[in-house]
Amino acid sequence: MPDDDPEPPGPTRQRNIYMQGLADVTPDLPVRYEDLEATALDALDDGAAGYVAGGAGGEETMDANREAFTEWRIVPRMLRDVEDRDLSVEVLGQEFAAPVLLAPIGVLSIVHEDAEIAVAEAAADLDLPMCLSTVSSFRLEQVAETLSHEDGRGWFQLYWSSDRAVTESLVERAEDAGFEALVVTLDTPLLSWRERDIEEAYLPFLDGEGLANYFADPAFLDRLDVDPAENELAAIREFVDVFGDPSLTWDDLELLVGETDLPVVVKGILHPDDAAEAVDRGADGVIVSNHGGRQVDRAVPALEMLPEVVDRIGEDASVLFDSGIRRGSDAIVALALGADAVMLGRPYVYGLALDGADGVRAVGQNFLADLDLTLGLAGQSSIEGLDRSVLRER
Ligand SMILES: Cc1cc2nc3c(=O)[nH]c(=O)nc-3n(C[C@H](O)[C@H](O)[C@H](O)COP(=O)(O)O)c2cc1C
Repeated sequence: MPDDDPEPPGPTRQRNIYMQGLADVTPDLPVRYEDLEATALDALDDGAAGYVAGGAGGEETMDANREAFTEWRIVPRMLRDVEDRDLSVEVLGQEFAAPVLLAPIGVLSIVHEDAEIAVAEAAADLDLPMCLSTVSSFRLEQVAETLSHEDGRGWFQLYWSSDRAVTESLVERAEDAGFEALVVTLDTPLLSWRERDIEEAYLPFLDGEGLANYFADPAFLDRLDVDPAENELAAIREFVDVFGDPSLTWDDLELLVGETDLPVVVKGILHPDDAAEAVDRGADGVIVSNHGGRQVDRAVPALEMLPEVVDRIGEDASVLFDSGIRRGSDAIVALALGADAVMLGRPYVYGLALDGADGVRAVGQNFLADLDLTLGLAGQSSIEGLDRSVLRER
């Protein structure tokens, strides 16, 4: 990852820069999201497919996340010189070439053996920052090394352990490895009721997947009598004990913010009062998200809450959005509603499942090409210039 300030990204000149790489795109990777999802799910075993595609309870929230986008329509404007388009944005004072990050997704080894290393390579090629999950299949140091080798950028997502020493150690390791922000996920102090996983009796962590960061962590290892290599089951049990902490409060967030030099972004915010509290307690940004409908069934769609959160804290902090972003037009809606950037989740996992790093690259390229074209055809020449006047509510 770059030590110095990165070169500010320039405008997209004359043509869609992301189209240039299309020749490299895997020809048989489906372009339509619906086909991509169906093909990837077909290729995965039932357990992994259910884990990635599934959500909490009856999966009402997952559907509602998509439904919420249908409430907003883009109103294209004409003859406004959209030859040069600028996708760049500033988030947390950091310059991004495009308003897109790859969302933290855990246990990627269940969809492809190259897992987070493949995602890091593709993210760097695409010039999109990658947010690495705590429950990754490769150690955070290995992923950071790939990112820096490839000139990529990374944020680290923290699952806040009930063992404070483990939390502190993970944060320190993320800082030392060169991650540029800490994303603290607040909506997962407990794993939710996920019916597909329960029916399949599938939880990848119980097979030791996604635990690379814990099994290499000095504070976690201190809790064990023997190394995980000698007794994996005992180590897995210990992980289950320390994974989350439902007793956390806003006072704890304030302490955590005080303990790190990294900017802190809290993920899983839906209520504007929570967004305001997070900023009062020192967070630099929030991610409006319901974890892709994976935590609370019948939770409000994330998009529905985005305008209220932006109105409340948008002047004081960065606001990011995820949960339901599938195409360029979805991103335009979220950005016009006031998000500074969006996170792409399940779509890139399906690309990874089908073709490793090349698959993630193809999905990212297609997404960025769509975003750039839709921006220009809406009569807009920059992401920073988008506002609610671009939209009409149904
Ligand atoms: C299989 C899977 C694993 C995930 N793992 C994590 C994780 O480790 N940490 C986290 O903060 N969010 C995690 N998320 C949530 C994503 O970061 C993001 O909020 C979600 O995918 C957005 O919904 P969408 O993919 O439907 O757009 C996960 C999501 C999926 C689908």
